Amino acid sequence: MADKVRIRMTVNGLEQRGEVEPRMLLVHYLRETLGLTGTHIGCDTSQCGACVVHVDGQAVKSCTLFAVQADGSSVTTIEGLVKDGQYHPVQEGFWEKHGLQCGFCTPGMIMAAADLLNKNSNPTDAEIRHALEGNLCRCTGYQNIVLAVQYAAAKMRGEPVTGAAD
Ligand code: FES
Ligand code: FES
Repeated sequence: MADKVRIRMTVNGLEQRGEVEPRMLLVHYLRETLGLTGTHIGCDTSQCGACVVHVDGQAVKSCTLFAVQADGSSVTTIEGLVKDGQYHPVQEGFWEKHGLQCGFCTPGMIMAAADLLNKNSNPTDAEIRHALEGNLCRCTGYQNIVLAVQYAAAKMRGEPVTGAAD
């Protein structure tokens, strides 16, 4: 068995130190070692996007990274999006616009969408669909996900937002 490697990273604002197998994936470190099970594993081919987290502010599929590669980084998971008891606007948008059904894809969708809105405050529907191409949803047909992201974008721009979907 390979020697374990010491790592240290900030996860959702808390410093975490530990020793991991060199081949441990970041998603397994987050879920199994830190107990942050909001980050999901939906495939073994790096296609589904259920595992998306932010590493140093960038959306990353956490099944494509070894935990040791995130050493020294700042990681945010879906659990870290709530600030001062307030849902992130993207979380609120998914609630208001019924952007989910089973919810399995939702944490990764929300993290990918939040990354998009950090870079583009006023995306078109096509830009949203393009940004979420790496996130698969087998339930919703995507339309309400686009509406949810548009809701969040408007809210983050300080514009009035309309309530729940019809
Ligand atoms: Fe499917 Fe990471 S678990 S892309
Ligand atoms: Fe079920 Fe997206 S809501 S996979």
